[in-house]
Amino acid sequence: MTYQNWRIETDNENIAWIFFDKANAPVNTLDRPVMEEFANILQELGTNKNIKGAVIASGKKTGFIAGADIEQFGKFKDLNEGIMVLKLGQEVFNRLEALPFPTVAMIDGFCLGGGMELALACTYRIAEESSKTRLGLPEVMLGIHPGWGGTVRLPNLIGATAAFDLMLTGRTLSGKQAAKIGLADAAVRKPLLMQAAKFYVTQKPAKRKISTLQSLLNNKVSRQILAYFLRKKVREKANPAHYPSPFQMIDNWEHVGTSDLQVAYDREAKTCGRLFFSDTCQNLVRVFFLQNRMKALAKESNFKAEHVHVIGAGTMGGDIAAWCALRGIKVTLEDLDPKFVAQALKRAYKLFQSKLKEPHLIQAAYDRLVPDVKGLGVKNADVIIEAIVENLDIKQKTFARVESLAKPDAIIATNTSSIPLDEINTVMKNPERLVGIHFFNPVAKMMLVEVVKGNKTDATILQKSISFVRQIDRLPLPVKSSPGFLVNRILMPYLLEAVDLVKEGVPMQAIDDAMKEFGMPMGPITLADTVGLDVCLSVAEHLGKYFPVNIPSELKAKVAEKKLGKKTNAGFYKYDKNGKQIKSPNNYSKPLSQIADRLVLRMLQEAFACLEEGVIEDGDLLDAGMIFGTGFAPFRGGPINYARVSGVAGLYAKWKVHQQASASQTISSVSEAKEI
Ligand code: COA
Repeated sequence: MTYQNWRIETDNENIAWIFFDKANAPVNTLDRPVMEEFANILQELGTNKNIKGAVIASGKKTGFIAGADIEQFGKFKDLNEGIMVLKLGQEVFNRLEALPFPTVAMIDGFCLGGGMELALACTYRIAEESSKTRLGLPEVMLGIHPGWGGTVRLPNLIGATAAFDLMLTGRTLSGKQAAKIGLADAAVRKPLLMQAAKFYVTQKPAKRKISTLQSLLNNKVSRQILAYFLRKKVREKANPAHYPSPFQMIDNWEHVGTSDLQVAYDREAKTCGRLFFSDTCQNLVRVFFLQNRMKALAKESNFKAEHVHVIGAGTMGGDIAAWCALRGIKVTLEDLDPKFVAQALKRAYKLFQSKLKEPHLIQAAYDRLVPDVKGLGVKNADVIIEAIVENLDIKQKTFARVESLAKPDAIIATNTSSIPLDEINTVMKNPERLVGIHFFNPVAKMMLVEVVKGNKTDATILQKSISFVRQIDRLPLPVKSSPGFLVNRILMPYLLEAVDLVKEGVPMQAIDDAMKEFGMPMGPITLADTVGLDVCLSVAEHLGKYFPVNIPSELKAKVAEKKLGKKTNAGFYKYDKNGKQIKSPNNYSKPLSQIADRLVLRMLQEAFACLEEGVIEDGDLLDAGMIFGTGFAPFRGGPINYARVSGVAGLYAKWKVHQQASASQTISSVSEAKEI
């Protein structure tokens, strides 16, 4: 038989090699036609008495299987259809598990979600050992939980403790890490994969068993105890009202465990089916596709930098340089003061240690990062990034020099967070060469990078810059060069509005709690303290050059008193000597949603102004920017999506009421509410 998405080759030892190569798709994902073909293959092989074993592998250049096809998540017409698709998958994987001969999943590259569940139904799993190979069940990131047997097979394979650690966080493991906890039976180097797979099929080593202690956990009382602790731990990170899926997984485990397989599978399908229809799932799926859209922007150019030159070894410059070196690029780091370069190298080493683990990889990354006090690297670099002080005069001098030395096709970029490109580039002979590549702090954590287009920036240079940002595994967001670009422009009025609330006597703790309850990773007052009140003030003052900004006197006073936030152990909050925030009094008795409404509306108002002014192409990209640049509640799908779902007119009316209630001024005005 021939198949559209699968290829079967039987070797001279009667081992069937099943290669998955999904037709017309860049990566392997599982959808109904693929699963139906797979079921037929299992039927065909299962009844063939000659077959001694089977190896399932990818026929693609990269990756094993990226999971279920996420596109289908929004397309189930009702709950029954959702559950039916899940049950169908469960049946297919049960059939795989029941084959009369050993099966091996040969995993090279990503093996995620449904792909991992398929591998779990095989007798053995052999993984390529490096960290390029990623195994895991990241369904929580999409607001669901595994639904094709994963929540049952994984605890039964590696024990409930390790299984929940993976399923509740969605984190993934390298081949080596997977072998260490028994998720893979072996981790080998790539050239040995086929040999290892064959060994397992022919020699049939004993299957791994979980420890007695772990098997004891699967009884009613132990499950209740573990469930209690798991819930407590998850609650520290996630609100069940916002992220129900991890709590649902714990409930399932507590109530039915994983010994009675059919009961556990039925419950898994039912609860996963329900989660498909939650707002959280629909919005997180939206975020996945927004992320893909940003990734896809990079495909327009095949530019690859081999050498990056960073000017300025302060926190931003040093961290940008370290990140580029981590991603495999040669970097020269220029700063007149060797002290800053030394500090940057020290931080870089720590980053390499935490990300790369293996000594030879750490050393190689460190060797790629070259101190360059004299700035000799400028003339050979493919990308030059300036990250010096926010001073127009100094930046202009720097760019006049850079332009005279740089290769004709090098990207010349500024990491300015505030100075318009068209002011900096006036000293350049070819102002169209200047582009903004604006990173967020901390560089290693923040996925977003704004790629800023000045009025004169050349389109090809912009495109190459976007590709460069993807090359270093960040998400590029094209924005127009205007004050604050997109993220700071929207974030700053929100922070100032929060400070205004403090001025009006609202307890800081209540303000922070309100926004955390809304779904922000951190409250605005804590955020201001963390960013640094001096930084907030200078960004606000800068924006104030272009818009009527009312900077609260409280903010100015704190900066004047040198209470700059966390870094000085005092800002709006006080901090102990370990940097831990000291709780402040909170006697707020009104609903926290009132505070959240006002602050979110302030943010929305600025977001709409950015859309009207064309700072960003559309509302989807704006949402992506705020989610990946500030952590705006991902389960709400971004500010514009929130406005769309909540009804703009209603929100606008509420905002008007708040406006009248508070005398606060605003940066931009929205003329009228528009339905979008
Ligand atoms: N469903 C549907 N499409 C998927 C997919 C999935 N599970 N995983 C990847 N894709 C698509 C992407 O949309 C993209 O499509 P495009 O080229 O048309 O834009 C393409 O595959 C390549 O993915 P991309 O993310 O650009 O490649 P990458 O190499 O940067 O990352 C993965 C690959 C697999 C690590 C990443 O795509 C990913 O994390 N996918 C989701 C995995 C997941 O959550 N699985 C569980 C589902 S329940």
